Amino acid sequence: MFTRIREDIKSVFDRDPAARNSFEVLTSYPGLHAIWLHRLSHKFWRWGLKWLARMLSTFGRWTTGIEIHPGAQIGRRFFIDHGMGVVIGETAEIGDDVTLYHGVTLGGTSWQAGKRHPTLKNKVVIGAGAKILGPITIGEGAKVGSNSVVVKDVPDGATAVGIPGRVVLNKATEQDGKREHRESIARQYGFDAYAVAPDNPDPVANAIGVMLEHVHKMDLKVEELCGAVQELGGDVCGKSIKALDIEDFKDTGLSPIIQQMNHKDESFDPHI
Ligand SMILES: CC(C)(COP(=O)(O)OP(=O)(O)OC[C@H]1O[C@@H](n2cnc3c(N)ncnc32)[C@H](O)[C@@H]1OP(=O)(O)O)[C@@H](O)C(=O)NCCC(=O)NCCS
Repeated sequence: MFTRIREDIKSVFDRDPAARNSFEVLTSYPGLHAIWLHRLSHKFWRWGLKWLARMLSTFGRWTTGIEIHPGAQIGRRFFIDHGMGVVIGETAEIGDDVTLYHGVTLGGTSWQAGKRHPTLKNKVVIGAGAKILGPITIGEGAKVGSNSVVVKDVPDGATAVGIPGRVVLNKATEQDGKREHRESIARQYGFDAYAVAPDNPDPVANAIGVMLEHVHKMDLKVEELCGAVQELGGDVCGKSIKALDIEDFKDTGLSPIIQQMNHKDESFDPHI
């Protein structure tokens, strides 16, 4: 129990720069008091002590302004900042490391029993005053803007804003697209910089991938420029650029890459 409490307090320091010390966090963060009361009321609920569970949840509401139905399933390091006006419905499911601000509702849109409240995957952030309605899923790492009303699924890594909520950014897709583009360019140069896990990219390999992309774009520009000058009767692109001297890259670990780049120089087709 104390491990979980320590973990909860640490999660406040990770997410609220205003938090100063553990005693202050322990005593003046209603979001924490609400989640601790919920853990107990959820236990009572599962043991069939429904009335006791509801009473404890109601007590939590009086003291914190946060209403969490005892049936709601909540993961670890859940943090409700400020708290007042938060409502979490009976069939809501919340993953780990989720953050809610004040005024958030995880509500239902139907009076039918059964799953009728949202599912929030790990690391979701819901802005102040947002309403997430119905048995929808907010994907891992997704964000919802303050005062939005979301009634449809939000993909992993996406940001949804407005009424009705619409996706404005999808960092996961955006980054995947960029990575795929860089990989294809790096493959042309014979350099597989991305033989690393996508969720743990090597920063140096990544930097080299970015530089290769830049070199590739410059190749295209130079080729375009040469074509235009040739058409005007100029003769500026006859000589090929001197290959990189591998000696200059001795002891850097980059020699094999430079060798491959030089080797591919002649036959390299920049149009992908
Ligand atoms: C949604 C949010 C997470 C987006 O953050 P972000 O990833 O940095 O994205 P940006 O700020 O670049 O915004 C992206 C677009 O969404 C718009 N947007 C952001 N928040 C919005 C909101 N709540 N409602 C409507 N549009 C919003 C921006 O204007 C921008 O639009 P544009 O591309 O047309 O310029 C953030 O704005 C937010 O609302 N966070 C909640 C914070 C909160 O509740 N704090 C309470 C502290 S007490």
